[in-house]
Amino acid sequence: MISIRSSRILLILLVACSFIAPASSSHSQPRQDIERRINALLARMTLEEKFGQLQQLDGGGNENSRPEHRDLVRKGLLGSTLNVRGAQRTNELQRIAVEESRLKIPLVFGFDVIHGYRTILPVPLAETSSWDPAAAEKSAAIAAAEARSAGVHWTFAPMVDIARDARWGRIVEGSGEDPYLGAAMARARVRGFQGHDYSASDKVLACAKHWVAYGAAEAGRDYNMTDMSERTLREIYFPPFKAAVNEGVGTLMSAFNNLNGVPASANPFTLTQVLRGEWKFDGFVVSDYTAVQELINHGLAANEKEAAQLALNAGVDMEMVSRNFNKFGPDLLRSGQLSQATIDEAVRRILRIKFRLGLFEHPYVDEARERSVILSPANVAAARELAARSMVLLKNEHETLPLSKDVRSIALIGPLADNQQDLIGPWSGDGHANDAVTLLAGIKARLPSSTKINYAKGCDIDSSSTDGFDEAVRAAQDSEVIIIAVGESAAMSGEASSRSSLDLPGRQLDLIKALHATGKPIVVVLMNGRPLTINWIAENTPAILETWFAGTQAGNAIADVLFGDVNPGGKLPVTFPRSAGQEPLYYNHMNTGRPPDANSKWTSKYLDVPWTPLFPFGYGLSYTQFRLSNLQMSATRVRPDGRLTVSVEVENTGKRVGDEVVQLYIRDVAASVTRPIKELKGFQRITLRPGEKRRVEFALTAENLGFYNRAMHFVVEPGEFKVMVGISSADEHELAASVEVQK
Ligand code: BGC
Repeated sequence: MISIRSSRILLILLVACSFIAPASSSHSQPRQDIERRINALLARMTLEEKFGQLQQLDGGGNENSRPEHRDLVRKGLLGSTLNVRGAQRTNELQRIAVEESRLKIPLVFGFDVIHGYRTILPVPLAETSSWDPAAAEKSAAIAAAEARSAGVHWTFAPMVDIARDARWGRIVEGSGEDPYLGAAMARARVRGFQGHDYSASDKVLACAKHWVAYGAAEAGRDYNMTDMSERTLREIYFPPFKAAVNEGVGTLMSAFNNLNGVPASANPFTLTQVLRGEWKFDGFVVSDYTAVQELINHGLAANEKEAAQLALNAGVDMEMVSRNFNKFGPDLLRSGQLSQATIDEAVRRILRIKFRLGLFEHPYVDEARERSVILSPANVAAARELAARSMVLLKNEHETLPLSKDVRSIALIGPLADNQQDLIGPWSGDGHANDAVTLLAGIKARLPSSTKINYAKGCDIDSSSTDGFDEAVRAAQDSEVIIIAVGESAAMSGEASSRSSLDLPGRQLDLIKALHATGKPIVVVLMNGRPLTINWIAENTPAILETWFAGTQAGNAIADVLFGDVNPGGKLPVTFPRSAGQEPLYYNHMNTGRPPDANSKWTSKYLDVPWTPLFPFGYGLSYTQFRLSNLQMSATRVRPDGRLTVSVEVENTGKRVGDEVVQLYIRDVAASVTRPIKELKGFQRITLRPGEKRRVEFALTAENLGFYNRAMHFVVEPGEFKVMVGISSADEHELAASVEVQK
């Protein structure tokens, strides 16, 4: 029995979207036709051919594996490969599948197209900093068009894992810490990749990953275990996946991590009960790379046969790289540990997606088209625009930025100032470093040739040498202003790239200190894949621009922002801590019984560092200023299933055209389970001219006000809710009001 406070009436809301089958994309072939064709195939397939469809092998890199793969394809024993790409290579292998195999079932070619295929766009964390789902959608659409032209049907993206701990390297691949923002970006990216019909020649099948809670790897150490309540799963980690499923995502990837004692790649609760049962997902689940095999290391499976049995029965349909389904599936069927129905269901799901991809009708891609699509001038121009839109101005004292184009001399310093390899970031698809525009090149292209640019690397990203300091200091002394590009190498974030320190690596901070001593104004340009602890820089340098890893056009886009052609309008999608020891640090936490109080030792805080972040979630500056005023609500009392409109006036009070991201937060003041001190429930990025004023409106519905109660039912409880509108999660000028949810 659950006990519910008598003063409250529990209202269980059948939140519509929980019970409606996902609005799957409209595909060119009617569903019944597809199911009929699948039945016909299933009736003809041997058991081995069925297991063949459940196998994905890595065809990248290793030339030696290719004859074996070709042989398997010819025999109808391989359903998919990853990393095989390029129109010619994919066509070649596909030809074997559709012309030489018995049943002519086409292969589906997967590849990690995370932020661009060849035209590399900003890393996903950067794109989320735009707080502009339309920008993320456009970026995914560019990536999809290039990838499909190169024979790639399926991207292992978007990564929609919530990440609250910056030590985890893969924070770079996702949308940061917030489920509402994460869900908005998940929808946008699925739309961008798949469109409404992913059989189109410029679309790819998407894969929401990693299902689930991989982003909560304990201590931020990649692949580590996760242990969390079902409520946290449902409220924080599930929403972006749910959003992707509702948007019609065709596949999900089961994660590496152990989840509450049952690894995610053998977890019937998440793979079957929630995904298929509650959400009615009708696509397929691919395991992560060797995740089925790893069930043995986890200590769940005693051997490979058991690993196959556990994963298949839990709801994994396709095994990536390890081969246990294939090796042991037939045996498991014979011994009754696996049913024919389970096997057929997995095959059905995979074939369904192959039909939706149009592969039976159009197995090949046009080899001539690839060249015209990839790195097209339009894609390159969009990459520049999207990169500039993703940048976050963290500090700008004395209007240091934008820099005047009349500046006569600039010292451009730092290991990332003229570096093509790192600025495209990790997981850079088929991107070539040679295509990338460095900051040095971007600045040179921007300024008249008479401007003196004194470039010096100063130091490496991560070495102990200070040999380059003197040259850098001389360059600074010889210049009016210093721009220094510092941060991480691309390889320091992404998979298997967790860090226990969030400081700038190597001697980069010492280099900044040496330059600071010259007394010249310094603009710090950050390139990195995670929040960094940059306390000294935040205190001592006048201007800081967070550019993340901005992609192929990084240098041009950064120059656009530094010299004021673009007014930065991005906001942080993750909290920047002051110390790695504060992690996990996120804005939407519970309050504790003893919230931090500067005047009381016996409250929730640290002895050696403030409890507050260095930069909060949702924070970012502009070259202009904005004022919010006149908060209005459509009512002060609302029914639990009602709808509330909240609006504010936003005015550009500065001198430049600029963007502001207006953010709506709520707090359920007291409830039958404790609620976060703030939860994002709406945002809008708008552009205003100097002096322009506009009213921005948000709608709050039951879905925004509800939560999972003690019985794990989604409810809206009566009582007081605080509604807050501001320009960050910690805006001292935020506007606030209260609304009463009635019984
Ligand atoms: C990663 C996945 C990726 C897969 C295929 C794994 O190591 O965790 O995110 O999609 O490899 O490259």
